Amino acid sequence: MSFIRTVVPLSVWAAVALAAPAAEPEATPHPMVTAAPVLPRDFKPDTYVKSLIDGLGSDVSSYVASGVPQFFQDFPTGDKVKKSLGIDDDGLKAVPTSVLNLPSYANWTDEGWNLRVHGNVYKLPNASQDKIDELANVFLIGTEMKKLAPNEQDQARNVTRSIYVVQQAHENVTVHFENDVSVEPDASGGVINAKGGAQNITLPYETTVEGDFDTFVKLKNTTGANGGHMLAGNATKSIQSLNMYVDGTMSGNATAYLVPPTGFTIISDIDDILRITKIYVPKEGLLNSFARPFTPWMNMPEIYANWSASIPDFHFHYLTTTPEQVTRNYMDFIYKTYPLGSFDTRPLNFSDVSATLQIRRFLLDKIFQTFPQRKFILMGDTTNSDVMKAYPAMAKDYPGQVQCIFLRNTTATDDTDLFPYDTSGFEGLDQKQYMFFNVADELKNLDIVGGNCYNPSVKQNVTFGFQGRGFGNSAPKQSLMTSYALSFVVLASVFNMML
Ligand SMILES: *[C@@H]1O[C@H](CO)[C@@H](O)[C@H](O)[C@H]1NC(C)=O
Ligand SMILES: *[C@@H]1O[C@H](CO)[C@@H](O)[C@H](O)[C@H]1NC(C)=O
Ligand SMILES: *[C@@H]1O[C@H](CO)[C@@H](O)[C@H](O)[C@H]1NC(C)=O
Ligand SMILES: *[C@@H]1O[C@H](CO)[C@@H](O)[C@H](O)[C@H]1NC(C)=O
Ligand SMILES: *[C@@H]1O[C@H](CO)[C@@H](O)[C@H](O)[C@H]1NC(C)=O
Ligand SMILES: *[C@@H]1O[C@H](CO)[C@@H](O)[C@H](O)[C@H]1NC(C)=O
Ligand SMILES: *[C@@H]1O[C@H](CO)[C@@H](O)[C@H](O)[C@H]1NC(C)=O
Ligand SMILES: *[C@@H]1O[C@H](CO)[C@@H](O)[C@H](O)[C@H]1NC(C)=O
Ligand SMILES: *[C@@H]1O[C@H](CO)[C@@H](O)[C@H](O)[C@H]1NC(C)=O
Ligand SMILES: *[C@@H]1O[C@H](CO)[C@@H](O)[C@H](O)[C@H]1NC(C)=O
Ligand SMILES: *[C@@H]1O[C@H](CO)[C@@H](O)[C@H](O)[C@H]1NC(C)=O
Ligand SMILES: *[C@@H]1O[C@H](CO)[C@@H](O)[C@H](O)[C@H]1NC(C)=O
Repeated sequence: MSFIRTVVPLSVWAAVALAAPAAEPEATPHPMVTAAPVLPRDFKPDTYVKSLIDGLGSDVSSYVASGVPQFFQDFPTGDKVKKSLGIDDDGLKAVPTSVLNLPSYANWTDEGWNLRVHGNVYKLPNASQDKIDELANVFLIGTEMKKLAPNEQDQARNVTRSIYVVQQAHENVTVHFENDVSVEPDASGGVINAKGGAQNITLPYETTVEGDFDTFVKLKNTTGANGGHMLAGNATKSIQSLNMYVDGTMSGNATAYLVPPTGFTIISDIDDILRITKIYVPKEGLLNSFARPFTPWMNMPEIYANWSASIPDFHFHYLTTTPEQVTRNYMDFIYKTYPLGSFDTRPLNFSDVSATLQIRRFLLDKIFQTFPQRKFILMGDTTNSDVMKAYPAMAKDYPGQVQCIFLRNTTATDDTDLFPYDTSGFEGLDQKQYMFFNVADELKNLDIVGGNCYNPSVKQNVTFGFQGRGFGNSAPKQSLMTSYALSFVVLASVFNMML
């Protein structure tokens, strides 16, 4: 199915006027709400739903229309941050530089290990708590900082501080590598400590205007303690790890995973599959992303721990399109709850909506092309239209490289999920290659290594078209649609108030 971008008229103010009669129309979007929605050309939502979309306007309607419900959009950067915090360049000079260094993967080449190094250089201004609380209130919907529980306030302050950072352009980044990683048995898919490889590397490019760096570097085969060395990629099946430290800061520590050419890699999304986000209920999604401590979804930690222990040398790669600014919270949660592994997040230059919709495919292409002989297990859920499009497309575009696609059917366990999703990409794929599942237990006892990824006893109904409650063939439940519509009106009126 081909897609076109359709900008729904900005008539949100009609809806806002109902909820908040004094509202003045303003075109600036809420910082966490996606701008223009994407509608498929032959998409025919029910009349009721269509009027709902039109009535909500471009700022909020994309939650419904694109199925890419992104709360975290259009975060302030650079001068906007300085202005919001009331700081100038002189004030920033005294602030130490921080580095977000994402755990990364290396492939084996004729010239040795080739490691991706990616992240962001920034400064974290020391804003007062009052200022942070004031800024945090902007992100909250239907509540405010002083009404939150203390642990929620802490979380909201943390996220707000993480968002109000000033990215540092044109910086050189030097990374120190050390082979002293402590590896927990079975926690990380058979990862072993490299026996050599300590070295310092300055990246070949300065950071981009957004403070980002993302490049591959060649690791030298240096000798470690007791004459040890890194193993060649074609001499081992194990994943070796090295510690990375960025020069001049304590904030840029990460792990590098040296991943052999063959074997299995799982690429896992995080929201609504590894943690409860409820991205499909905007108000809940915002609270779960912004104020509540992250909580695992069902017994996914047990499933992943088991896969880590039972699938030989399983490489875990977490790929979320959440923006870089909030990545630390995601990493912190993942590494406490799930097996260790490399990480991808949305770089800052992918911030407009069309780029947002391409970022997942861009990052998937990068890892598939880095490991042309590995087999991939792709994990996600039905509420991300980019997942629904990209995952089956990877199976077609990289024949033989996709072992399994697992998609949590969020509709099955949550009545409040009204998002439409498109299963047409799965037409023509072997049923053994994919499964739409309802609860985490349905992932037990599958033969992933043998390529039997579908459990016939699991109830799934794939029509190769638009599916979902309130869209496509099933009639919307009026009461649910009404509560859904109300949550948008709340959203619209709140962001109007803050303008
Ligand atoms: C392992 O890889 C290196 C570098 O690509 C190559 O020189 C060597 O011949 C390979 N060894 C085997 C056993 O394939
Ligand atoms: C940050 O600001 C607070 C006052 O808002 C001050 O007490 C504290 O010393 C400052 N910290 C640093 C590291 O500058
Ligand atoms: C927010 O919390 C994360 C995870 O605990 C932590 O790594 C990060 O440093 C915190 N960020 C700020 C700005 O305090
Ligand atoms: C970064 O390193 C390059 C090469 O050493 C040098 O030419 C450039 O001036 C450096 N940039 C900064 C901002 O220090
Ligand atoms: C890396 O640089 C640090 C100083 O920045 C130095 O102490 C260390 O010995 C260097 N390591 C190697 C392996 O060259
Ligand atoms: C490094 O060199 C040692 C000794 O020559 C060799 O055994 C080992 O395979 C090499 N490792 C890599 C990663 O090239
Ligand atoms: C980063 O690593 C350095 C060197 O081992 C250590 O001193 C520092 O505490 C680490 N920082 C964090 C945030 O783990
Ligand atoms: C973003 O930057 C990366 C390099 O860091 C580049 O490969 C990519 O094409 C850029 N994407 C966009 C949308 O500008
Ligand atoms: C290693 O990864 C790089 C970067 O993605 C890719 O260009 C190259 O083809 C890969 N090499 C091999 C041998 O797979
Ligand atoms: C984990 O594996 C064991 C044995 O391999 C099995 O008995 C158990 O049911 C598995 N648990 C899950 C959650 O898959
Ligand atoms: C998802 O679950 C819902 C509710 O059980 C069901 O109607 C729908 O057909 C399922 N979708 C798929 C793709 O299996
Ligand atoms: C599967 O879903 C379609 C479309 O929602 C529906 O018409 C059909 O009755 C469903 N089939 C089963 C067996 O549930």
